[in-house]
Amino acid sequence: MEKLQGLFVKSVNHYFPDEGEAWLRKLPDLINYCEQKWSITVKKPYSLSINYVAPAVTRMGKELVVKICIPGEGFMNELEALQLFEGKGMVQLVDWDEDYGLFLLEKINPGTYLVDVLEDEEACEIAADVINKLHKEPPKQTRFIPTVTSREQNFKRIVEKNPNGLGPISRDELRLALTIFSYLNKTTKKQYLLHGDFHHYNVLKSVNGNWIAI
Ligand SMILES: Nc1ncnc2c1ncn2[C@@H]1O[C@H](COP(=O)(O)OP(=O)(O)OP(=O)(O)O)[C@@H](O)[C@H]1O
Ligand SMILES: [Mg+2]
Repeated sequence: MEKLQGLFVKSVNHYFPDEGEAWLRKLPDLINYCEQKWSITVKKPYSLSINYVAPAVTRMGKELVVKICIPGEGFMNELEALQLFEGKGMVQLVDWDEDYGLFLLEKINPGTYLVDVLEDEEACEIAADVINKLHKEPPKQTRFIPTVTSREQNFKRIVEKNPNGLGPISRDELRLALTIFSYLNKTTKKQYLLHGDFHHYNVLKSVNGNWIAI
């Protein structure tokens, strides 16, 4: 196995101070396990943050993606979300392994990032289109208890801490955003499951021109 990406090693150790280091050491074995379990060859990883994600290919030549995570809360949430969204606006889950924190996913080709759409208005329309597809009513029994109301509280703290604005965002823009956020939360009639980490590096373009969230 090649040397691991420096930023990846740093992030894993930062976010998982207890189990990160041991997990990084186990990665070659985990990759091997994936290759045996799914009869695939795992290729060089993508640019990584806190999970090991790499393209893979089956013996029949089908392209897939392997995502290796530290088992636990985050993995279980991602698993339930992928199952509930059923590949609608969201990448298709092919298989998984709860014990070792593994996902086998459909590969999105060419996988261009939404951030590479330079026209801001066009990018926003694409993002809105994808969000529109990610409309799923959560089942009665679900891991997803927290709602966006808790994020309103976090946002409120941010606004209070930054009375003069934050970076390129002015004070008035921050306040307006909070007002809209509060209004939307107050007037919510029905709850839907949302993507918990929707941003322009987590939306990829597929061959047929569709944009898909990961
Ligand atoms: N199904 C897929 N098809 C093609 N490329 C993918 C797929 N899933 C992930 N990738 C690539 O791997 C990278 C990392 O994947 P992903 O975003 O799922 O990891 P992550 O660790 O959850 O990252 P973050 O939390 O920063 O979003 C993506 O930015 C993308 O380049
Ligand atoms: Mg990502």
